Amino acid sequence: MIRSALMNVMTAAALKAGKGLKRDFGEVENLQVSMKGPGDFVSAADRKAEKVVFEELSRARPGYGFVMEESGVVEGTDKSHRWHLDPLDGTTNFLHAIPIFAVSIGLERDGQLVAGVVYNPATDDMYVAERGQGAWNNNRRLRVSQRRDMAMSLIGCGVPHLGKAASHPRFKAELAAVMARAQNVRRLGAAALDLAYVAAGRFDAWWERGLNSWDYAAGALLVREAGGFVSDADGDGDFMTSGALCAGNEWIHKELLAILKSAR
Ligand code: IPD
Ligand code: CA
Ligand code: CA
Repeated sequence: MIRSALMNVMTAAALKAGKGLKRDFGEVENLQVSMKGPGDFVSAADRKAEKVVFEELSRARPGYGFVMEESGVVEGTDKSHRWHLDPLDGTTNFLHAIPIFAVSIGLERDGQLVAGVVYNPATDDMYVAERGQGAWNNNRRLRVSQRRDMAMSLIGCGVPHLGKAASHPRFKAELAAVMARAQNVRRLGAAALDLAYVAAGRFDAWWERGLNSWDYAAGALLVREAGGFVSDADGDGDFMTSGALCAGNEWIHKELLAILKSAR
């Protein structure tokens, strides 16, 4: 485990929000749900969890800025530090009573990801990483998989929802190209946990486009600290701004990038 003041602050905030999410998950049929757009929902649980994390982190680290899914950007007086917060990654799963969702908190310092926490309250899995300190799931150190053969590899992905119809054709082309080469493909429905699964060596690689920094800031650090690679899905570019990501172990990450390129 990582024993640092920063990790204590981050995990405490995730646990506190997670407690509320666990309660709401048990009564999901009574939750207030609204639509942000076609196929894109937000619930009272998302908003409550965001408030809890925002308050906890603001109290422990006054002045840090925020990029949050539900409340947007809050500029801090400390221009070096910025939180990227998704209070409930996997809202669709949550609303369908599927226990694959997480609180995701990433910290950026002077443009570098330095700490990340991804917490799934339904399974009580806490994934943490701090720059130079490795990545952990509860008390277990994480390492990316060592697989080198794409035909033996399990690849995670994100499927664009109804409101992202413009990106459906590209996704279908990429999926077809990956299906022709990989052992098989999975779709969890929570990008932060997809990245945690890459860090844990469960997925050999994963890709998704159209994400926001709160979806992946924490997870990207988990992968890197577990010895893996994270890049823009098109190879060059900066994923923190493009929102198109490809992550995996050294070999399968490289090969997945080439497959995605071949699908263009
Ligand atoms: C979503 C999840 C999903 C991904 C979507 C995200 P949300 O986040 O991470 O896996 O495919 O692109 O928007 O809306 O559940 O926080
Ligand atoms: Ca999300
Ligand atoms: Ca969310």
